[in-house]
Amino acid sequence: MTSGASAPGKIILFGEHFVVHGTRAILAAIDRRVTVVSSIIDESVIRIESALGSEEMDVSGSGTVPELRPFEFLAKRMIREFSHAGGIDIKIISEIPHGVGLGSSSASCVAAAASISGLFTRNTREEICRLAVEAERTIFKNTSGADCTVCTHGGIITYGRDSGFERSGETPGFQLIVSNSGLVHSTEKVVARVAEFKKRYTERFNILCEKESALVRTVTKHIRDRDSGGIGIAMKENQVYLEEIGVSSDALREIIRYADSHSLGSKITGAGGGGCIISVTDEPSPDHIIKKMQGYGIHSFGAKIDHTGLETF
Ligand code: PMV
Repeated sequence: MTSGASAPGKIILFGEHFVVHGTRAILAAIDRRVTVVSSIIDESVIRIESALGSEEMDVSGSGTVPELRPFEFLAKRMIREFSHAGGIDIKIISEIPHGVGLGSSSASCVAAAASISGLFTRNTREEICRLAVEAERTIFKNTSGADCTVCTHGGIITYGRDSGFERSGETPGFQLIVSNSGLVHSTEKVVARVAEFKKRYTERFNILCEKESALVRTVTKHIRDRDSGGIGIAMKENQVYLEEIGVSSDALREIIRYADSHSLGSKITGAGGGGCIISVTDEPSPDHIIKKMQGYGIHSFGAKIDHTGLETF
């Protein structure tokens, strides 16, 4: 018995970090996927195979590779819930670079939640998303849940930790370019740094949350009106807030400076501290911008919006 699922990666267009503190964010699923294939096995072991490491543990034992904890959690949860006497074999294949803010961990959690639970039952997308968020919390306790939500549902969404998500029905009138600093970040550490900023400068942080909320409202209109110029200006504005809360760096500022000179606007996407930046353009093909960025020695690619979200097979 085998069950497969795949989920797209993501970028955060607006509102990373502030979303952890209750502000709404805008996210888009992108055309790079993680695929997970799970099988029922007779031996009472959980076997996990991925580019981040592989391990095998007794169903009553524990693994040692921290990145594999979500898969162990999901397998044990299903084995317990369905009183399964054997074990589970899990294979994870990813097209998304790890630790650079493109949702590799969330897409893995969503695909794994669907694939592993699919061995025993049929869940709705909402149930799979909830399971995926629980799995992700084994490696990142304070996740807002935004990433798993967009990786499950696909498209462009507006997400609030308390208000849930809304899918934008619009076909975007813009192209997105992702530029990777190649510096791997720890989302948990950067999120903790922002919590420290909030503790020290509470009043200022609250003002920035209000500014971010207003920006997200404005951008929602820009997306509807296909106003790419407005979106670019808003990205530059969002970057100012991200700089202030301390999630940028000299390396990211330099990439943003290059990217800004060839696009309508750029910003960090995801936790920052490393990882990727995104840029927006209204040109039909972003190829020449990608070439320019590559000329500076920066790995860039055009990201298409994935409208499908989670798929099972
Ligand atoms: O893991 P990343 O780089 O995609 O960042 C996640 C986005 C944050 O807003 C920083 C955290 C969260 O849970 O929303």
